[in-house]
Amino acid sequence: MSEALARHRAGGKRLFDLTVSNPTECGFAYDSEAILAALRHPAALRYEPNPKGLERARVAVTEYYSARGAAISAEDIVLTTSTSEAYSFVFRLLCNPGDELLIPAPSYPLFGFLADIQDVKLVRYPLVYDHGWQIDFHSLLQAITARTRGVIVVNPNNPTGHFIKEKELAKLNELCAKRGMALIADEVFLDFVLGDVKPVTFAGNAGALTFATSGLSKIAGLPQMKMAWVIASGPDELKKQALARLEVIADTYLSPNAPVQLATPVFLQQRHGFQKQVMERVRKNLVELDRRLAGQKTCRRLEVEGGWYAILRVPATGSDEELAIELLTNEDVYVHPGHFFDFGGEGYLVVSLIAVEEEFARGIAGILAAFKEGKTI
Ligand SMILES: Cc1ncc(COP(=O)(O)O)c(C=O)c1O
Repeated sequence: MSEALARHRAGGKRLFDLTVSNPTECGFAYDSEAILAALRHPAALRYEPNPKGLERARVAVTEYYSARGAAISAEDIVLTTSTSEAYSFVFRLLCNPGDELLIPAPSYPLFGFLADIQDVKLVRYPLVYDHGWQIDFHSLLQAITARTRGVIVVNPNNPTGHFIKEKELAKLNELCAKRGMALIADEVFLDFVLGDVKPVTFAGNAGALTFATSGLSKIAGLPQMKMAWVIASGPDELKKQALARLEVIADTYLSPNAPVQLATPVFLQQRHGFQKQVMERVRKNLVELDRRLAGQKTCRRLEVEGGWYAILRVPATGSDEELAIELLTNEDVYVHPGHFFDFGGEGYLVVSLIAVEEEFARGIAGILAAFKEGKTI
């Protein structure tokens, strides 16, 4: 796929890119004056090392949660430079080399690298689709061994776009609390809700030791600012111990820089304008997708409750990789094959809903044309 893409680009051919996930390259308007001015805070000239991060930034994070109805103490927050770094800290905190963490499949492909670097073994638990996605708890229970230290959930998941429901949260709490395991919840897409789902946040979850992580990459569309956090919660004594140890890990690096920490309250405010534009784009692209799908019977899309992606179910006549390469070569459309996200079988393509509308429409038209003309089937 990468070689085909490099050849395509080198050939100077047009490309309808339905894999885009970098919000700074999708034509969204940012308040550049406010963003740049926020980076000029006079306090940035002082070095005030604080393992958890500067208090004013952590307080801004608590305000983000109180706006969603969750009361979080600034003392339970550790700032990091990305959710990826937050994962690394939590993996290091919970696991000795060779210990295991359960991850959902399908899901986001970064986990493998993060786990390898921390010598953690990932064990997959399946999500099942039946008019919507849900955790296959039977398989999850079977995946637990004496070395399992925790369960990772992505809420809403990337790329399936489904939220964890109250009942699932209760089950996760019960099974983790019973076995002394932790919950690790990635909530970077929590604000991007479609339909009438009421998202439940894991931030402040009391039923089991929990680490909820999020950051500015998605919330405010500012991945270049490198600001994220992890929030510890759960039974008091466990939370206290976890935070004390997390503090040691964070103190070893003191990663977040002062200008960005000081600008975080402003960056978080910027989320309103950004999220409005994203949701308008996502909704428009979904309408366009459904309009085009209605004109044929070969492909369909799966239900999506939130996030920036949609999953197309397409005829599984070869590997998804071959199909994606064919779409690139014949139709100039770049899509992610399902295996990239650990789908259990063939016949899945993932498309980004934040692609610029015209590009999205052309890309979807290309995919459907390929099936219609029998080129790929
Ligand atoms: C589900 C999920 N979690 C985390 C990340 C990474 O976020 P960060 O830039 O904070 O490391 C991404 C990025 O695409 C993501 O999709």
